[in-house]
Amino acid sequence: MPVLNTLTVHHVGYLVKKKNQAMRAFLGLGYVIAQDWVRDELRGIDIAFVTKDGLAVELVCPYRDDSDVSGLITRLKNSPYHICYVSRDLAADAEALRESGYLPMGGALPAPACGGHPVQFFMHPALGIIELIDKAFTFAQE
Ligand code: NI
Repeated sequence: MPVLNTLTVHHVGYLVKKKNQAMRAFLGLGYVIAQDWVRDELRGIDIAFVTKDGLAVELVCPYRDDSDVSGLITRLKNSPYHICYVSRDLAADAEALRESGYLPMGGALPAPACGGHPVQFFMHPALGIIELIDKAFTFAQE
């Protein structure tokens, strides 16, 4: 059984309402683009990755009203909303998370912004949202 404390951090997911202005603001703070905008038509969002000081931030901007994050961004505004961890075995880690009180928010589905590799989201009652991403993903522009 995988141990949750061996999961490594991949990125922080960050909701933004205005993608170009948000990107400019992050670049102004010294972030660099690790992967430029990719449209995820399944989830109704545009995604880009920026990095600084070893931290990867995923900018998530809904482009339609029924996107996966439209409800969240209405409540949270522009803000971080999940931490993503690298999974070496999605099915096994998902099971370990469930046993630790995390509820799956849907299944493991391919993410166009992550090279088509699967990701899965989970909700914990005290911690909020986390994401698992398949270990095979690397930024397209690295
Ligand atoms: Ni993410």
